[in-house]
Amino acid sequence: MKPITFTLNGAPQDNGLEDVALHSGFVSRCVVAARSQGAALLCAALLAGCRAAPLAEAPAGQAAVADSAMVVSASPRAARVGASMLRLGGNAVDAAVAVAFTLAVTYPTAGNLGGGGLMLARINGETMALDFREVAPQAATRDMYLDARGEPTDRSVTGALAVGVPGSVAGLYEAHRKYGALPWRAVIQPAMELAEYGFRADASFVEDLEDNLPRFSPSTKALYAPNGVPFDTGMKFRNADLAKTLRLIAERGAAGFYEGETADLIVAEMQRGGGIITLEDLKRYQPKWRKPVEFTYRGHRVLTMPPISSGGLTLALTAGMLEGFDLRAMGANSADAIHVIAEAEREAFLRRNTLLADPDFVTIPTERFLSPDTARVLRTRIGRTKHTLSALPPDPVRGRHTTHFSVVDGQGNAVALTTTLNTGFGSAVSVSGAGFLLNNEMDDFTVSTEVVNQMGLRQGEANAIVPGKRMLSSMTPTIVLDSSGAPLLVTGASGGARIITAVLQVMLNVIDFQMPLPEAMRAPRFHAQDFPDRIDLSMPGIAESTAVALEARGHTVRRKEGPLGFGWAQSILRSGGKWHGVSEPRGHGIAAGF
Ligand code: DON
Repeated sequence: MKPITFTLNGAPQDNGLEDVALHSGFVSRCVVAARSQGAALLCAALLAGCRAAPLAEAPAGQAAVADSAMVVSASPRAARVGASMLRLGGNAVDAAVAVAFTLAVTYPTAGNLGGGGLMLARINGETMALDFREVAPQAATRDMYLDARGEPTDRSVTGALAVGVPGSVAGLYEAHRKYGALPWRAVIQPAMELAEYGFRADASFVEDLEDNLPRFSPSTKALYAPNGVPFDTGMKFRNADLAKTLRLIAERGAAGFYEGETADLIVAEMQRGGGIITLEDLKRYQPKWRKPVEFTYRGHRVLTMPPISSGGLTLALTAGMLEGFDLRAMGANSADAIHVIAEAEREAFLRRNTLLADPDFVTIPTERFLSPDTARVLRTRIGRTKHTLSALPPDPVRGRHTTHFSVVDGQGNAVALTTTLNTGFGSAVSVSGAGFLLNNEMDDFTVSTEVVNQMGLRQGEANAIVPGKRMLSSMTPTIVLDSSGAPLLVTGASGGARIITAVLQVMLNVIDFQMPLPEAMRAPRFHAQDFPDRIDLSMPGIAESTAVALEARGHTVRRKEGPLGFGWAQSILRSGGKWHGVSEPRGHGIAAGF
C-alpha cells in the first residue's frame, strides 16, 4: 500500500493514520472499507473524509464521561483505535484486541507481539480469564542465569537468552476467536496501517527510547535509533517490517506468528544472540482459559486474575484483612490507614512470594488466600511491634514498563487487559526482518532465591525455572461488580509488584473512601511488600507529618518524589448512569468514549 494524501477539514494530511490523532471517526471508516476490499476502498474512505461525532476524550488524570462505551489506555492512539472499533459495532473484546495490537506499534516499551499478557473479561454476564503468559523454552534449566559461582547474571534481563516463548498473538487470537464480532483482519488493520504509514513520535515515545538506548541490540537500534540516536519528537516513525508481520497475522491468524516466516525469523534471532527458543517451542505455545478469582469486599463482588498471576489472590488476601478495619473512619492517606494497609500488604506478599507459581506445575493453596478465617487470623497480627530489616535491596527498575488498558462496550461487557515485555523494551532484542521486540519475562522466574529480581521481588522455589512452565506475574486486571452484577469498576495497572498495591488503592479509594474516579486515581500512592520491610510513600502527596507518624510506629519509610516508582493504573467507573474513564494521572494516556 502506498501512503495516501488527503484533505481533512480543509487541511492537507500527509498520510492516513496520523489522522487517528485528529479525527475519531477515521479508523472506523478505514476499517469498514479496508476489511474486505483492501487499500482501494480505504483510500476512498479517506478521501471522503469522515464525519462521526468526536469522541469524549480526557487527558491523563481527568475523567472522560460517556453514555455508551469507554477505552482507557496509556497510548492515546491505541485508546482511539479501541473506541473506533466499538463505534464500528465491535464489542469490548474486538476493541481490546485492536488496542493490544496498536500498542505493539505505538507503545513499544510495553505493547508487544513478542511478550505476553493477562485478560479478564466480563461478557454477557459471565467472567473469563485468559492467560497468555510466556513460557520457559524446552531447553531452559533451573540455574541457567547463574554464573560459575552461583551468582545471578544479567542474562535474564538483556539479550536473547532472557526471552520466554511469546504468548500475546496466540492470546489475542484466542480471545477474538471466542468472543470477537468484527472480522479478525479489521481488528488488526489500524495497527498494521500505523506501522506501515507511521505516526509522529511524541515526547513519551522518545523518552522511552532514550532511556533504553544503551541496552538495545543492533536489530533494535536499527528500528528505533537508525543513526545511533533515537527519533526526535515530531519525526514520523514507520516500521515496515512490523507492518509485514501484522499482515501475516491478519492473513493467517496465530499461525502467521508461530509458524512460517515470522517463526523462522524469531529462531534466527535466537541463534544470532545465544537464545534458546526453537520452532517447536513456538508451535507448542497455547494460551489458557482460567477460572477467575472471585471474592467479596464490603458487599462488592470483585473478579480478578487467578494464577499464573499472583495479583488476584494477593489482592483478595489483602482486602480480606482490611475488611476488618474501618478505613473510612481512619481517613484516606492518614497514618492509621497507611499503617494497616501496608501491614496487610506485607503479610499477603509473604505468601505471594513463597506459595504462588504456575498452577500447572505447583499446587496453589487458593484457600489460604481466600478464606475469611486466614484473613481474620492474619488481621490480628496487624499492630504488632515492627522489626526493621537492615539490608535494603536495590530499587526495582524505573520507567515505563508493562501497560494496562480497560474497555467497556455498549452492551455492558468489560475487558481489563495487562500486557508486557516485562521491563521497558523487554530483552531489548528485536526480531530482524519482523520489526518487533522480544520480552525478558524469564526474569520473573525465581532466578535465585537469594536476590531480588528486577521488580524488587525475592521469590521462592515454587517459581523456579522448568521447561514449559510460566513465570509468576503480578499483573492484576480486575473488575468490580455492582449489586446487579454489572461492571462497576474496571481497572488494572503496570508497575511490577506495585501493580497489586495500585489496584488495591484504586479499589479502596472508590469503595471505602468513596472518591470520584479522578480523585481515586490522583490520590498519592504508597506501597509495601514483605521484603524489604519498608513503606514507599509518594511525596509530597502524602504529608510529611504522616511519614513521621509512620516512622514513630516503627516503619522504615522511603519518601519518593516524581511520577515513577508506583503502579500506573487505567480505570473506568460506572457512576450516575455513565462511564467515567480516567487514565493514569502520572502518565500520558487518555480516556476516550462515546
Ligand atoms: O508480570 C509481571 O509481574 C511483570 N513482568 C510486570 C512488569 C511490570 O509491570 C513492569 N512495570 N513497571
